[in-house]
Amino acid sequence: MKVLVIGSGAREHALCHSLSLDPDVTALHCAPGNAGIAEVAELHRVDALDGAAVSALATQLGADLVVVGPEAPLVAGVADAVSSAGIPVFGPSKEAAQLEGSKAFAKEIMAAAEVPTARSYVCTSPEEVDAALDAFGAPYVVKDDGLAAGKGVVVTSDVEAAKAHANSCERVVIEEFLDGPEVSLFAITDGATVLPLQPAQDFKRALDGDEGPNTGGMGAYSPLPWADPKLVDEVMETVLQPTVDEMRRRGIPFSGLLYAGLAITSRGVRVIEFNARFGDPETQVVLARLKTPLAGVLLAAATSNLADLEPLRWSEDAAVTVVVASHNYPGTPRTGDPITGLAEVAAEDAPHAYVLHAGTRQDGDAVLSAGGRVLSVTATGKDLSEARERAYRAVGRVRLDGSQHRTDIAAKAASDAAAGAGPDA
Ligand code: AMP
Ligand code: GLY
Repeated sequence: MKVLVIGSGAREHALCHSLSLDPDVTALHCAPGNAGIAEVAELHRVDALDGAAVSALATQLGADLVVVGPEAPLVAGVADAVSSAGIPVFGPSKEAAQLEGSKAFAKEIMAAAEVPTARSYVCTSPEEVDAALDAFGAPYVVKDDGLAAGKGVVVTSDVEAAKAHANSCERVVIEEFLDGPEVSLFAITDGATVLPLQPAQDFKRALDGDEGPNTGGMGAYSPLPWADPKLVDEVMETVLQPTVDEMRRRGIPFSGLLYAGLAITSRGVRVIEFNARFGDPETQVVLARLKTPLAGVLLAAATSNLADLEPLRWSEDAAVTVVVASHNYPGTPRTGDPITGLAEVAAEDAPHAYVLHAGTRQDGDAVLSAGGRVLSVTATGKDLSEARERAYRAVGRVRLDGSQHRTDIAAKAASDAAAGAGPDA
């Protein structure tokens, strides 16, 4: 099978890494990719947001499957363009991707499908904003309606900050605050059959102890030793299947990856958000544990054949990923700095630990930083403690001037698991 992956982040590197290990994959291409992906896939210079260019490339390569990684091309209709060219594509149509592209649309679908989520108001004027903030009280949750790379959400107890963010957006969703630990649960779907993956937890805040601004994600781990073993079944029944059914009922079937961002509150599971693609950095840890070869699973989803697929097989290992970000991320990041130490990780830590690239580019012999999140250093181990140790040992070998990373990824879950109990908060 010839596979073309669209995107250039650590998630796409994780996808390419898994696809490169799949014996059914005879050729692996990526556009536009990054310096790390270039080691496992042939890169092509194509604008990921240009559906005509992506489908022309897929046709020229004779691709049997196109996998669209990020949300922006999906919302721009790239999957529609590829599928119009007669090529199976993993990723939802432009219309179905509105589940991520518009928080107001997602709320409407959840209401229709009776999916549990935070109560909310959609506001377009300062008066509506004031009334909604008043109705819920602090802490305030204010979300830009459109795509914002994980940075459009402000959670604050400062009413003036809440108003300022709301009034900087054209349309906002203001909702009740959900307490409790967050879980990311991904499901692969062909629009009818839904296949859940293993849950993971992401660390959205920039700084240790969940301080600082929201980011695209600073690290992740899987499995979640503290989670109820029935969680996946419950979310399948109350969230994933009803949502997929509702989309199909409306004539906008959702195929690809449905990402449920969940809060495990004292009153039960609630959806925080949907995404229409694999999460980053959770994908890095979920795929590290998937033993079933990936290409056949993605192709089955793209061709409406998921019902016939064998159950997925998972490793008992734990996986942890730690994001190394540029100076000043999630503000405007500093880029163009050389990254060293990558060869040492490959020599000393592989195969248990490895470096997935996000914002990097090759410049002659050098690898340079080229974005906010630069690397996603991933490791597996017999439990979270071992996976953490390996991941941080590898992070310690990587040098990037001014870079930052959290030092507490999976720390609480690992120590609670070692002590024998307790949820992560
Ligand atoms: P989102 O882009 O909707 O995932 O929001 C980003 C982050 O903001 C989430 O991962 C949560 O940490 C936080 N957040 C979003 N909605 C809520 C909510 N209703 N209550 C508490 N925290 C929230
Ligand atoms: N990890 C958060 C996201 O992918 O949106």
